[in-house]
Amino acid sequence: MINEKNLLNNNETINKIRKEIKYFHPKTLDDLKKFKIKFFSRKKGIITILLKKIKKIPIYRRKEFGKIINGLKCQIQEKLDESNYLLKENEKNEKFDYTVPGTTIEIGSIHPISILKNRIINILSNIGFTYVDGYEIEDDWHNFTALNIPLLHPSRDMQDTFFLSKKKDILLRTHTSSIQIRYMENNCPPFRVLSIGKVYRNETISSHSNYMFHQAEGFYIDQNVSFSHLKTIIYYLINSIFGKTKIRFRSSYFPFTEPSAEVDIYYDKKWLEIMGCGIIDPKVLENVNIDPKNYSGFAFGLGIERIALILYGIKDIRLYFNNDIRFLKQFKSEFF
Ligand code: DAH
Repeated sequence: MINEKNLLNNNETINKIRKEIKYFHPKTLDDLKKFKIKFFSRKKGIITILLKKIKKIPIYRRKEFGKIINGLKCQIQEKLDESNYLLKENEKNEKFDYTVPGTTIEIGSIHPISILKNRIINILSNIGFTYVDGYEIEDDWHNFTALNIPLLHPSRDMQDTFFLSKKKDILLRTHTSSIQIRYMENNCPPFRVLSIGKVYRNETISSHSNYMFHQAEGFYIDQNVSFSHLKTIIYYLINSIFGKTKIRFRSSYFPFTEPSAEVDIYYDKKWLEIMGCGIIDPKVLENVNIDPKNYSGFAFGLGIERIALILYGIKDIRLYFNNDIRFLKQFKSEFF
């Protein structure tokens, strides 16, 4: 037993106290209370007595003794706090009825842009397109020059963007077509590639335009790729998204394709323009060291927001970016 008499000058006693603290596992809050009184009570608490005794100890040993007693005090306090916490937690758990049925929590829904992105990835991967990611921060070469849009080319005016360097060399990409250059620089044909991501333009925000939107870009390089291959893929893609629809190709101009076309669909009794496409210009292939005499290819690009506007009958592009739960919830049925 530890008692007042044998406390002093006795290492064994100190060790006994340490052991007692260590192996003390109270079953009730009452046990805990008794433990606290035993050590800390104002008159007979073991620690209280020890602290009082410090004065009687020869000065040269006081410091050492004080340290030991303080150490014990801290250990006891820690034990009290920890046991108090554990006992209270146990009490709470005992009151918890595990047999009560759980309530369902509301899970979120997928953003319409992501739904469409996933659908396009699915549709095109079914016919062998590989999905790759590009960079939202691009340099002039990949976004413009290599795509046959040299400095001062008028088509740059339509794609004004946010420049990140004074030299105007680093910018937020204006279209996903830059991925064509990045991929072709590092891979040898044949390949079929799809990429989807954010693009940026210096545009005023309105119901039909925003400074950031999403594009999907597909391209296919092999020997003897022709415009009829391109048409087949476009028909397949559009019919997979919209169901059977009337489609028309309108000749157009893009610096990186020749010939170029714009694709319209007949939807809700009107013709709607939904994408650009064409046969990749031989100059672009040369820029990435692919011999245009051996290889040819096509490319296409489409705006995801625009397709989702048509598909879901959304009237205002800003709804995509407001994060309004009432808007987002409507796409729940698409979850599975
Ligand atoms: N990059 C074009 C744009 O943002 C879209 C586009 C047109 C992409 C024709 C293509 C293409 O790959 O062949 O307006």
